[in-house]
Amino acid sequence: ETHPDLDLRAHIRGIPDFPKPGILFYDISTLLRHGPAWRAAMERLAARISPYKPDVLAGIESRGFLVAAPLALELGLGFVMLRKPRKLPGETIGLDYALEYGTDRIEMQADAVKPGQRVVLLDDLLATGGTMAAGIGLLRQAGAEVPAVAALIELAFLNGRARLDLPCETLLRYDE
Ligand code: PRP
Ligand code: MG
Repeated sequence: ETHPDLDLRAHIRGIPDFPKPGILFYDISTLLRHGPAWRAAMERLAARISPYKPDVLAGIESRGFLVAAPLALELGLGFVMLRKPRKLPGETIGLDYALEYGTDRIEMQADAVKPGQRVVLLDDLLATGGTMAAGIGLLRQAGAEVPAVAALIELAFLNGRARLDLPCETLLRYDE
């Protein structure tokens, strides 16, 4: 590791009442703009996911791209985008999922993964787990094997990991 003593938690900022009153938003911007912290976060995540022997990494738009793309480069792997609707050209497959109010949808290119490929899915943050569960569902629909998912931050009090039926690696857990 390049910066073994670096405290990642010191580089995440909690911003109260964003995007709504009563919500404490864990902001990764301060981590991203600090070179050593950003490198340390990627190195530590790479060490956590490499035992799952992925063939390729996938990331969820938007902030998941910030994690998945550098990690793929670090591990010498390709990177697949799971995107918001109607952003990807060519044939796509999609999955609708429920939000607290209403629904959302993610899509990927139909030929983005080969059946049986091992795909580790990344996002910046696991909250309720709805987004990650949808991503897993979509990758499986495409025939991928998903040995694990990972995120920088886990809001443990929302218990998102209970919605997932596979290992979930996270670097920083918050209990409130
Ligand atoms: C945030 C975050 C995760 C998701 C976690 O994304 O980046 O993707 O919410 O929430 P969940 O576990 O309750 O599903 P957001 O939809 O705000 O969009 P962004 O990544 O484009 O900023
Ligand atoms: Mg997101």
